[in-house]
Amino acid sequence: ALERTFSIIKPDVVARNLIGDIYHRFENAGLRIVAAKMVHLNREEASGFYCHLRSKPFFEELLQFMMSGPVMVQVLEGEDAIKRHREIIGDTDPKKARAGSIRADYATSIDQNAVHGSDCVESAEKEIAYFFTDEELCPRTR
Ligand code: CMP
Repeated sequence: ALERTFSIIKPDVVARNLIGDIYHRFENAGLRIVAAKMVHLNREEASGFYCHLRSKPFFEELLQFMMSGPVMVQVLEGEDAIKRHREIIGDTDPKKARAGSIRADYATSIDQNAVHGSDCVESAEKEIAYFFTDEELCPRTR
């Protein structure tokens, strides 16, 4: 089905000047960027986005990393976009990530893991709405 998913290029990848490389991978996989912006998250924004993880032992480290520099947030549209995006991204743990995936190529640890992708339709909808208004989404498949 035609889906939309939410994606973050994290501070490590932005700092290494690799935004274009990641966008190229999305586009090569048939995913269209229908909204995008650069943001430097503050504590409130980062903890709100990851609020479902607030009881995890790694939560504070996750916030520190996500606030450490600007990120690119984008909405990707395409056939089975959620699954396709997660396939390109690879496993959360870079040691388990498929060879050739973004995390296998760029993640340096489970914390500094290069990118984020929504895991299901419900979280995609929630995460898109957290960063974008409906007017900011520009579908090109209408
Ligand atoms: P992300 O897809 O952004 O969702 C939550 C993030 O928490 C995850 O990627 C990792 O960067 C980070 N994280 C740190 N430690 C862990 C862990 N043990 N398990 C899952 N996620 C972790």
